[in-house]
Amino acid sequence: MSLRSKIDEAVEYIKKQTKTRPAVGVILGTGLGALVDEIKTETEIPYDKIPHFPVSTVESHTGKLLFGKLGGKDVVAMQGRFHYYEGYDLTQVTFPVRVMKELGVEILIVSNAAGGMNPQFTVGELVMITDHVNFQGVNPLIGPNDESLGTRFPDMYDCYNKELRNLAEETALREKIPLQKGVYVGVTGPNLETAAEYRFLRIIGGDLVGMSTVPEVIVARHQGTRVLGFSIVTDIGFPDSLEPCTHQKIIAAAAKGEPKLTALVKKTIERMTI
Ligand code: HPA
Repeated sequence: MSLRSKIDEAVEYIKKQTKTRPAVGVILGTGLGALVDEIKTETEIPYDKIPHFPVSTVESHTGKLLFGKLGGKDVVAMQGRFHYYEGYDLTQVTFPVRVMKELGVEILIVSNAAGGMNPQFTVGELVMITDHVNFQGVNPLIGPNDESLGTRFPDMYDCYNKELRNLAEETALREKIPLQKGVYVGVTGPNLETAAEYRFLRIIGGDLVGMSTVPEVIVARHQGTRVLGFSIVTDIGFPDSLEPCTHQKIIAAAAKGEPKLTALVKKTIERMTI
């Protein structure tokens, strides 16, 4: 079955379940699910009910689509995302982003837990993603291109939308939410980096490193969806003072940064003019 037909079947199912027609989509990263408490939920749909949706395998990801109001706008939020390291191919990882577009989503807000490589960053800090480096060695657009979804050679100019970034920055200032900025390097994981790898990723221009986001953002840009992205720094990747890190520590650090992310996303959506 073609990707187009799979998208259509998923969308047909979802439209029967919910009256919400979202203009904004939100992807919640590892340990960053609390934003959903702010959503006035109209409908919840578990991933395993939706035709062709993959099902999440990571414990800290719940696995459902939430429809409702956030910051006065109709939104759809993914509680739990899919990662390449789980064994999905990138068409599966990015399938929800395709579905969001057909549901009417024009703006995608992505979030993640990331390692901080910029010496200005500390654990628990909120960082707005200004750009990314795809260091996964794969690409979700490889394979035949369906022109009805997007062009064969999509431009990555203004990948993280400048107007949305300005809006988020202004909002952060108004709300007194500390906000750093940085370039996100996407790797496959699942292991964290060696000291030498953190050094290398810093040298090639990275401020943050993580195992998600890049495939979803590439697909969003392919289909013309505007993107805004945030990371919470969950561990520090300074090669000369590296310390042991565990998934538990990452979850705890994400929880520390979560209130800032939640507040900023909500307030920024409130100020969007769509
Ligand atoms: N490296 C890669 N992915 C991550 C990290 C990291 O240090 N922290 C959270 N996700």
